[in-house]
Amino acid sequence: MAIERFAERDWGALRNAGRVASETLATVGARVQAGVSTGDIDRFVRTDTRARGGVPSQLGYHGFPAAVCTSVNDVVCHGIPSPHQLLSPGDIVNVDVTTHIGGFHGDTSRMFFVGTPGPEARHVVSVAERCLWAGIEQVRDGARLGDIGAAIEELARQEGCSVVRDFGGHGIGRVMHAPPHVPHTGERGRGLRLRTGMAFTIEPMINLGSAEVIVEADGWTVRTLDGSMSAQFEHTILVTNDGCEVLTGPAGGGGQEGRR
Ligand code: MF3
Ligand code: CO
Ligand code: CO
Repeated sequence: MAIERFAERDWGALRNAGRVASETLATVGARVQAGVSTGDIDRFVRTDTRARGGVPSQLGYHGFPAAVCTSVNDVVCHGIPSPHQLLSPGDIVNVDVTTHIGGFHGDTSRMFFVGTPGPEARHVVSVAERCLWAGIEQVRDGARLGDIGAAIEELARQEGCSVVRDFGGHGIGRVMHAPPHVPHTGERGRGLRLRTGMAFTIEPMINLGSAEVIVEADGWTVRTLDGSMSAQFEHTILVTNDGCEVLTGPAGGGGQEGRR
């Protein structure tokens, strides 16, 4: 399937969607603490997304029953928020926000600490964040998808962690999930060649134990098979003429800090 390359006239709307998603994630994340339920996080995301003029892309997506994914401890991704699931001191939680605004989607997630998690939990979170940036550093016109996967896999292995292979990043734009599939493992010099105007996510899922996962009976929740902790960070990236922009990055919207 052909990979869409967005013309520069679309870049402003892509940047805006990325910025709005990152703002919601930051605002909601500031409220994550012990005693808050993942169902509360879902309410915060709905309210904040609406206040910014956006729509939560995930709500109803293939039947997904909430506006946000909340993945706690050994949940790898796609955790369903619940008012019965209270966050406790020592938990690590991924909050994954995707926002549809101005015709485009922005998709970003990060880990939050509840209280002070133990050293192993902090380690897997640190590795996942560094893996995301190791992948982002590879992105430029002419680079290949395998360069991204290889950079992530090498760092995870050095740090004694494993990379989930069952899920990957994805193209994004006028739809949330578009081709290409962006693997978080791979070989340098292999795979699709990246071109200016392509937009996609990088969202490595890193496990403390084995890479194997299972999907719960609810059809969504993905857990590590061995019960070990898992962590994930995600940014939406645009390939530009001189590298890439992290559309959901710290400054958002392709601001200086988001530029690479
Ligand atoms: N935001 C998620 C991703 O990074 C999308 C999950 S699909 C859902 O691709 F239906 F579970 F929300
Ligand atoms: Co995504
Ligand atoms: Co996401």
